[in-house]
Amino acid sequence: MTLLRDHDLARAFDHASHTYDRLTALNPGYRTDLLRSARRLQLPGGGAGLHVLDLGCGTGASTRALLRAAPRARITAVDASAGMLRRALAKPWPARVRFRHLTAEEVVTTGEGPYDAVFAAYLFRNVTDPDGVLAALRTLLRPGGRLAVHEYSLSGSAAHHALWTAVCRGLIIPAGSITGDGALYRHLWHSVVRFDTAPAFTARLADAGFTGVRAAPVAGWQTGIVHTFLARNGAAGPQGEEAR
Ligand SMILES: C[S@@+](CC[C@H](N)C(=O)[O-])C[C@H]1O[C@@H](n2cnc3c(N)ncnc32)[C@H](O)[C@@H]1O
Repeated sequence: MTLLRDHDLARAFDHASHTYDRLTALNPGYRTDLLRSARRLQLPGGGAGLHVLDLGCGTGASTRALLRAAPRARITAVDASAGMLRRALAKPWPARVRFRHLTAEEVVTTGEGPYDAVFAAYLFRNVTDPDGVLAALRTLLRPGGRLAVHEYSLSGSAAHHALWTAVCRGLIIPAGSITGDGALYRHLWHSVVRFDTAPAFTARLADAGFTGVRAAPVAGWQTGIVHTFLARNGAAGPQGEEAR
């Protein structure tokens, strides 16, 4: 199967946006796993004085997790799909959260930043050029800034691969097909199978120049299937502490 990319992927998410929140609500742990990953950023002081980027915010589930993890941070949330953003905007948000219709590749052209932290949940296996986006993030993050990538990235074990395929064939694709989004959910299945394993994505982050890179598994049935990848932009500050 050819994976959906760029414009085609955005259109598929536009269509799926109507049912996205209902479908993800069926996934036990979807929201608590996002919250755990956002908390793993360990933003100090509830995020006071910090500017955080939510890359590929979708309908705002990852934005909500960030807001809970860092209730005092300013958050800019961007997504390539106008439909997903419309769903996000229909929800109540404090004034320090704003949404913009931009691709991950375009954010760097806005001249905004630097950001103190970036959260990218379920984005990276969707982008055409992950190394290009990682390079852009290094210019968007301030030195020592934090990155958390929450992603379907298989452990490399045959058991986790088989479980992912069984869940996709038995649940995710049939449920997504009912709403006319079969192509997107088949893309989900294949994009995960073809994406980096957790060790490979860890190496990709290090190759891009991120430091302190580590992968942490999520809990529950997605252990070995979803990971949080944590990293910093370049050198850490004095005594291993980042500047703020
Ligand atoms: C699976 S959803 C996840 C949304 C949200 N982060 C969450 O955790 O629920 C992936 C989102 O990434 C967006 N996306 C995919 N490729 C993108 C790109 N190149 N730039 C910006 N957004 C992108 C899609 O439009 C979609 O809303």
